[in-house]
Amino acid sequence: MSDLKRLFEPIRVGELDLPNRIVMAPLTRSRSDEEGRVPTYAADYYSQRADAGLVITEATNISPGAVGYALTPGIWSDAQVEAWKSVVEAVHDREGRFVLQLWHTGRISHPDLHGGELPGAPSAVKPEGQAFTADGMKDMVTPRAFDTAEIPAILEDYRRAAVNAKEAGFDAVEIHSANNYLLEQFVRDSTNQREDEYGGSLENRLRFPLEVAAAVVEVWGAGRVGIRISPGTTMPGETPIDSEATITYGRYLEHLSSLGLAYTHVMEGLIRESRDWPDEVDGAELRRRAPGAYMANNELDPEAAAELLENREADLVSFGRAYIANPDLVSRIATGAPLAEAPQEYWYGGDATGYSDWPRASEGAAAR
Ligand SMILES: Cc1cc2nc3c(=O)[nH]c(=O)nc-3n(C[C@H](O)[C@H](O)[C@H](O)COP(=O)(O)O)c2cc1C
Repeated sequence: MSDLKRLFEPIRVGELDLPNRIVMAPLTRSRSDEEGRVPTYAADYYSQRADAGLVITEATNISPGAVGYALTPGIWSDAQVEAWKSVVEAVHDREGRFVLQLWHTGRISHPDLHGGELPGAPSAVKPEGQAFTADGMKDMVTPRAFDTAEIPAILEDYRRAAVNAKEAGFDAVEIHSANNYLLEQFVRDSTNQREDEYGGSLENRLRFPLEVAAAVVEVWGAGRVGIRISPGTTMPGETPIDSEATITYGRYLEHLSSLGLAYTHVMEGLIRESRDWPDEVDGAELRRRAPGAYMANNELDPEAAAELLENREADLVSFGRAYIANPDLVSRIATGAPLAEAPQEYWYGGDATGYSDWPRASEGAAAR
């Protein structure tokens, strides 16, 4: 395992001490109930993975208005906080470090998820594709643009969600500013066509995401706040990349650096299947500007991940899909045990099957 040894070097990230560089990436698994409470068996699922340097939760809605997928968890109600508490406790019992990902989906949603009302977004720009509703997949619609007067309340939703995450016992939070959800919809000129102080110029487009980051930092302290960005992705919604992506995200990261965030989690490349940056994005330049530890993600195998660490192209690496069927990913990498693959039917929805019942390598291939 000599060339993989970099993955097992401890690192301090903000105020957190990590025993290794391997991070469980956020993975929406759509097993929460209609009130947005994570299921009790999520405690097994997350605690089985507690030896990761960091475990990041599935994206978690900050408010009812934030919801864009059926059966995803929330962190706005007391009942949701209670449900998360037992999951956090289970991860802490196994000495894990647990980070909650704060989510608002903006236009990537559907009226069915909002009592028939249109989802709100920076501008009324229709995403392509379908939303996951309680009645299955449905075509997305043109969202309504938020009034300027509504924006302080959304900011307050973020702040309260951050407070609730603290109350639930998490060690840190990750602001989901990636994958073309609300915050990235503000950042990109393709989805932000506002004419108030939250749109138009670059500084205006960055205003709301930066207000959110400042509010979350005020609650948690910068050493326990990370951010996730994806300057090159077009999914979901077939969202065009910002027309000056390197400049736009470079400036965004510069502002975030002045807040002193603990880490920057970057979904690298164009789509989940490709680590290649599109022409508009200078990935190396953005890496240099990113605040805190740089966490690389997308299509990494252990060897590629170790090479990024070796070449100082990352401080941390996160694995998404590999964590679905390999609860013991850290020890599999350490021992060279083969990695299991999860069929897509288990990714979203269902119950403990294909979720918290994947065997460890030491239990043999038999299990499921
Ligand atoms: C089933 C599934 C659910 C995902 N849910 C989230 C999510 O909730 N938040 C997020 O930021 N990314 C999410 N992603 C993206 C992953 O975190 C990761 O960026 C992507 O899978 C690429 O990494 P990988 O090649 O290691 O899987 C999801 C991906 C998958 C496959």
